[in-house]
Amino acid sequence: MNELRTTIDFLDDWKRTDYCGNLRKEDKGREVILLGWVQKRRDLGGLIFIEVRDRSGLVQVVFNPETNAESHEQAQALRSEFVVGIKGEVVLRPEGTANPKLATGEIEVAVKELKILNVSKTPPFPIEDEEKVEENTRLKYRYLDLRKPGLQKNLILRHRLAREVREYFNRLGFLEIETPMLTKSTPEGARDFLVPSRLSPGHFYALPQSPQLFKQILMVAGYDRYYQIVRCFRDEDLRSDRQPEFTQIDVEMSFVTVEDIRKTMEGLMVHLFKEVMGIELKTPFPILSYEEAMDRFGLDKPDIRFGLELRDLSTVLKGSTFKVFQESLASGGIIKAINVKGGATFSRKEIDDLTHFVYDYGAKGLISAKVSQEGWQSPVQKFITDEERRSVERTMEASEGDLLLFIAGPEKIANQSLANLRLHLGRKLGLIPENDYRFVWVLDFPLLEYDEAEKRYVAVHHPFTAPRDEDIAKLKDYPEQVKAKAYDLVLNGSEIGGGSIRNHLKEVQSLLFEKLGMDDEEARQRFGFLLEALEYGTPPHGGIAFGFDRLVMILSHSESIRDVIAFPKTQKGTCLMTDAPSKVDTKQLDELWIKLKI
Ligand code: AMO
Ligand code: AMP
Repeated sequence: MNELRTTIDFLDDWKRTDYCGNLRKEDKGREVILLGWVQKRRDLGGLIFIEVRDRSGLVQVVFNPETNAESHEQAQALRSEFVVGIKGEVVLRPEGTANPKLATGEIEVAVKELKILNVSKTPPFPIEDEEKVEENTRLKYRYLDLRKPGLQKNLILRHRLAREVREYFNRLGFLEIETPMLTKSTPEGARDFLVPSRLSPGHFYALPQSPQLFKQILMVAGYDRYYQIVRCFRDEDLRSDRQPEFTQIDVEMSFVTVEDIRKTMEGLMVHLFKEVMGIELKTPFPILSYEEAMDRFGLDKPDIRFGLELRDLSTVLKGSTFKVFQESLASGGIIKAINVKGGATFSRKEIDDLTHFVYDYGAKGLISAKVSQEGWQSPVQKFITDEERRSVERTMEASEGDLLLFIAGPEKIANQSLANLRLHLGRKLGLIPENDYRFVWVLDFPLLEYDEAEKRYVAVHHPFTAPRDEDIAKLKDYPEQVKAKAYDLVLNGSEIGGGSIRNHLKEVQSLLFEKLGMDDEEARQRFGFLLEALEYGTPPHGGIAFGFDRLVMILSHSESIRDVIAFPKTQKGTCLMTDAPSKVDTKQLDELWIKLKI
């Protein structure tokens, strides 16, 4: 160990000339200095081969006892993850020994001098993407996990995207302005993370769920075009595309319409895809109203890369004598179906599995019908008239060999069951083109929805969203009919962004707070600063925020949001590397005036 420390000085003369992964046969004959980690060592008795890795990739390095006995001797001590400096010459690999799997596979580096810069314990898992390692182990040793090429690729992609986001907005005259992390809570549907204040006993800051109110205040202050790549915090139940702290590309603009914002954001996507992915996107992106999205796809974030769309059969089947259909319609429900082209080949078991699949989404069952010239092979066959059958086939555009799948029930359940069944079948049948990127705007969301649990209206987007002008009059008496100037951008079935035009008129904002069940006093207490600001010349304004992690996830084809974040949290919100959250000393708690109940 001592010896290692004393050799550090040599780095004055040993400056890296190249990253390992960049060397090619054009570099033949060059003397290079590489600094990196030992991927693996193979001792062939005579020659010793090691693969050296840095963040660019791997290169093979050869120690030959005949040309350099000293280095060869030293190399016998090398183990995985030792840190090394290599001075050597780039040479072509001998005939027939090229490795086509490696970008540097045509060459190797013949070592002239080796420096062992540090040793390493045997890592708990090999540093290779292909190795299946339990995720908790990966997260505990994140610094080793992060050495893997796959994660490095993701983080480099993330960096390039962030750089191009800034490039795009800067060019359009946007200002990047930071907003506070210690703030007052801005409820947006999720729970806040709270931070106790030492200087104000019994008071708490909240970490921002988004900079929503601050960016609106910046518009009041005249900053006109704002953006920020910013961390947001939400204490909600986690999923594969959700983290308690995540990053938004946050934007706000003054004097704009929904169309202006859509156009500017389409420009952002075009720029990112072109510069980072080398893909030309076509604009304008297609638009669906919220209603149409629900009708055709059963959800508000449709994956439009494939068909298998839902069709409503409530009208066609309103006279049906089949009990399940009859009862659903009688109790205000609907009947919807999808047509699996060529699905008549599905086995009994496959259809049973689909039935079990939809149970999870609340459906009471699934009716199947295999279409053939003689009629249907279906449990409802004897309850369906020829005329109904033909109507259904026409609506479903069904032909011989197709499989129809029906769900009857409350609208919400029928939609969510079929929406998920559609995605499931899309994947199972390979209908989804993996490398296709299909954007769609979803517009005209309802402004409010009734929350049965809380017995009051809640904002579908957030309470600062403006109603459509033509709907303002309905706000007082028919709040559920009011549509919002809100929009989501959906990419391949993932909601990557959402925003709205805001209420810049105090009267409308106050009325909205009232509809949300907040009296003047409560509204003042929670959002007094915003209401007050609205009285000092607020321009019309609106904005949007993108889930940056989700965008990186889709572009890197990652299955988990954790694979695009350097130091993510587990599903339970913990960090296995640092052990956060952790207990703290009583002294720390005392300073914060906090006494634990547990
Ligand atoms: P919203 O709440 O829709 O809007 O958030 C914007 C986008 O952020 C992403 N996102 C998340 N990503 C990872 N983990 C999470 N827990 C998480 N929650 C949200 C989604 C989402 O589309 N202030 C408003 C925007 C505005 O009106 O301008 C807002 O935050 O991709
Ligand atoms: P049951 O009446 O429960 O014996 O169901 C008869 C058939 O209807 C079974 O194939 C069920 O899967 C199906 N089924 C029951 N409820 C529904 C429903 N709400 N929508 C579609 N199919 C259903």
